[in-house]
Amino acid sequence: MDRIHIRGGNRLTGTIPISGAKNAALPLMAASLLTQGTLRLSNLPNLVDISTMANLLSQHGVSLEMNGNATGGHTGRVFSLNAGTITSTVTPYNLVRTMRASILVLGPLLAREGKAQVSLPGGCAIGTRPVDLHLQGLEQLGAEIELEEGYIRACVKGRLKGTHIVMPIVSVGATENLLMAACLAEGTTIISNAAREPEVSDLANCLVAMGAKIGGAGSDTLTITGVTSLKGASHEVVSDRIETGTYAMAAAITGGDITLTGGRLDLIESTAKTLIRAGVDITPIDGGLRVCRKSDRIEEVDVMTEPFPGFPTDLQAQIMAMVACTKGASMITETIFENRFMHVPELCRMGANIHVHGASAIIRGVEGLTGAQVMATDLRASVSLVLAGLAAEGETVIDRVYHLDRGYERLEEKLAACGADISRIRK
Ligand code: EPZ
Repeated sequence: MDRIHIRGGNRLTGTIPISGAKNAALPLMAASLLTQGTLRLSNLPNLVDISTMANLLSQHGVSLEMNGNATGGHTGRVFSLNAGTITSTVTPYNLVRTMRASILVLGPLLAREGKAQVSLPGGCAIGTRPVDLHLQGLEQLGAEIELEEGYIRACVKGRLKGTHIVMPIVSVGATENLLMAACLAEGTTIISNAAREPEVSDLANCLVAMGAKIGGAGSDTLTITGVTSLKGASHEVVSDRIETGTYAMAAAITGGDITLTGGRLDLIESTAKTLIRAGVDITPIDGGLRVCRKSDRIEEVDVMTEPFPGFPTDLQAQIMAMVACTKGASMITETIFENRFMHVPELCRMGANIHVHGASAIIRGVEGLTGAQVMATDLRASVSLVLAGLAAEGETVIDRVYHLDRGYERLEEKLAACGADISRIRK
């Protein structure tokens, strides 16, 4: 397994290109199942999860052509996906267990073929990650669902039927699955308490380009008037707001000055407000954002993760690393997942002073962090260790970096280009 070596202390300056959003690309790729036409997606990030989704779709019969880099200044890849003929409606466990987002083929397969057999995704490091809201919503749309031998077996006689679905809690994936299924249902579906994440809006925009009739994208109420079929379309994947926030915090923690090309302030407003409170300057510039730290130390801040437009749970581990060396104490409360503090013991091994009390962590600022051998446990915990390593004195070695490769495209290249002393040791 590869390792990442970082020698901390360098101030990062320069430019980082922001890739297309992994968490938009995955549902967008699943949406190709909804049409016999060709869906052309550009600005796709080059990530392990994207390849996993491509493999998964191809075993359903989706043909996929990768056309290199896109136009428009983005470095993202272009995929043309065509599900003219779906050869299988079964999604096997060996694929689902490597990527939970595989569940996003359930709604499209059911809507298009009237049946689907998708392995139940297991839990993961950050929580049990149930899919009950996906299944309850599909049953409300008329699907019959049974759970057998670790598989979800879903079917519907004729078409799904539009209805009013009230989500008991905000769920990004469930909103996306039900949105895609409702596009081909008979009649109108209203999804109340829908997720408002930009990735959900990006999916809705693409579905509309494919001929879907969707109102309320970006709000907590989506109204979908079902159609009998969708057509192909071209769509550019939205910029990755989590990558943007991550590299903004890399600038902050190293006292650097970085331009994030493709970064959009409107996608990270709550994060930007928090960073400004911490003494970080974030300024929109032509085609991106400029991030630099105003004073010699970061100010302590309190953060609570919430569904969009609140502070994103996917930036919680990163901001915890960022506030490890403030003058005062910060409190971070995780309200979305039940076990998303696995980065805490690893940060403490680097000298941070963090105590967890239930869903909250108290971070008392220390003078500085020291490099150590640490272990990544999940995607965002891994990158918080990278941020800590960039600021720590001495060398940090991070094991199990395959977690990073799932969500950060060319991470060490992008950071090294801004002066970080970082390298990947291939095992
Ligand atoms: C998406 O996961 C993202 N993944 C996650 O990003 C992100 O952390 C999460 O949304 C929250 O923003 C992708 O988009 C591929 P949820 P998802 O359904 O859809 C509970 C990353 O690092 N829940 O919004 O799985 C669930 O347990 C990943 O890029 C149910 O109880 O998240 C959680 O507590 C990590 N039943 C809460 O809802 C359900 O049926 C929010 O989960 C579904 C979810």
